[in-house]
Amino acid sequence: MPRRRGRPRSPWTLQRRLVLTVVGLLALVSITIGVVSVVILRASLLDRLDVQLASAADRSGAVLGGGGDNDGDRLGDTPGSTYFGTPTANSILSGPAQPPGLLALVYDGSSITTGYTDDQSGAIEELSAQQVQQLADHVNQSAAVTVNLGGELGEYRVQAETSGSGTLYLVGLPLSGVEATAAQLALIITFVSLAGLIVVAIIAAWVVRLALRPLQRVTATATRVAQLPLDQGEVSLDDRVPTGDADPRTEVGRVGAALNRMLDHVDLALEARQQSERKVRQFVADASHELRTPLASIRGYSELTRRSGQQLPPDAIHALGRIESESVRMTGLVEDLLLLARLDEGRELEMEPVDLTMLLVDAVSDAHAAGRDHIWDLDLPEVPIEAIGDEPRLRQVITNLLANARLHTDAGTTVVVALAAVGDRAVITVTDNGPGVPEDLTSTLFERFARGDSSRFRGTGSTGLGLAIVAAVVAAHHGAVSVESVPGRTQFRVELPLATG
Ligand SMILES: Nc1ncnc2c1ncn2[C@@H]1O[C@H](COP(=O)(O)OP(=O)(O)OP(=O)(O)O)[C@@H](O)[C@H]1O
Ligand SMILES: [Mg+2]
Repeated sequence: MPRRRGRPRSPWTLQRRLVLTVVGLLALVSITIGVVSVVILRASLLDRLDVQLASAADRSGAVLGGGGDNDGDRLGDTPGSTYFGTPTANSILSGPAQPPGLLALVYDGSSITTGYTDDQSGAIEELSAQQVQQLADHVNQSAAVTVNLGGELGEYRVQAETSGSGTLYLVGLPLSGVEATAAQLALIITFVSLAGLIVVAIIAAWVVRLALRPLQRVTATATRVAQLPLDQGEVSLDDRVPTGDADPRTEVGRVGAALNRMLDHVDLALEARQQSERKVRQFVADASHELRTPLASIRGYSELTRRSGQQLPPDAIHALGRIESESVRMTGLVEDLLLLARLDEGRELEMEPVDLTMLLVDAVSDAHAAGRDHIWDLDLPEVPIEAIGDEPRLRQVITNLLANARLHTDAGTTVVVALAAVGDRAVITVTDNGPGVPEDLTSTLFERFARGDSSRFRGTGSTGLGLAIVAAVVAAHHGAVSVESVPGRTQFRVELPLATG
């Protein structure tokens, strides 16, 4: 089957489904009651009409002489009511106590006379030959039948009889009254049902909305929790579905209670995660701290031995040099780890105005000394710019960025360091025209131990912590760091809050 194109149809809400079901069922019940009522009423009115017709037939039989063939002795034998003369339809219609709208046909063996009382004028009119034929076709003597005479007359309930004197006659009463009453009842039931359906639809919508309101509150809680950044940092999961909406005796309450239980579990799991993170952080901080002293000793002793050791073979001197340089590198790594662990702990930084202009001048001149084969440019504003922060940490941020621009680019690369005040922020940019950050690294650049897979830098002691420290320090200053990198242009941008006043 071909699928329909375009927007998928929005699903039916529970509210709409419930309201429509209630209204639909009520409509079904109303229709059934209406149809049954009208049918029963019509049948009972028809019965009454048949009784009237039988009485009229009896009276007519009496008028024609001798009464009807079945029960003529009931009315027809009344003295003084017998008709002496040629029996005609007129004699029946003008007989005593005949009901309005009566129709009569008399066949005296040679001729047929017909007539009916016109409802409006009360005059007696004759039937057409076609109508007489209709009557002749349908009528039998056993019971009353319904005949459609067409035109103004419509349907008639008709019964044939033979008078005591042997005259064949036929009387009929119009069905229009029965039909009108049945139609009126049908109309009333339709209107009442429609009004009832509208009222029920409004009440049902209101009741369902009221009943679903707790569900909306449960949804709101779930939505709020879903927006929490649960994957990182210290998060407390205090949000719960209100107790009133978490009563397990109701359906919605069960959903609320289940959500609350789930949130309790997630909260416990989060607490466990945070606890273990805290322990790891504490361990890293303690380990780094404890490693500093032995590392300083290794470095000191190796340096001492190397310097005083004229009697040592050249291999040993080389080995001691390596021990010394590796311990320097390891000290740097341990310092970095300790700093990151402290920043993770959220330890407060010293916050005071720092002259960024001076800081950049110092950092660039250091970088220039370290990287003579690079071209270093400084783009500073006329007025000094101060940021609020921790001076040694901010110095480390700049140093790390400049070290990257030196170590991860080729000789001859130009590095431009710029400073500007934008709004209430100081913006430092470090731009180089080197090869750019490796593509597979862009998404994890500021994560710990993320580094380019170039063996050239491994050898130089790259650990992949430099930018992680930049990101952590800048975040601790409520600033922002970002990078744009394409081959030929790499720009790191650091924003820090300006010192005001
Ligand atoms: N200016 C740059 N140009 C090209 N690649 C860069 C630049 N700056 C950083 N990178 C890439 O990003 C990686 C991560 O840098 P990061 O400073 O975090 O670590 P690292 O420099 O490798 O080691 P370290 O911890 O010693 O700084 C680097 O290994 C390098 O591949
Ligand atoms: Mg680096």
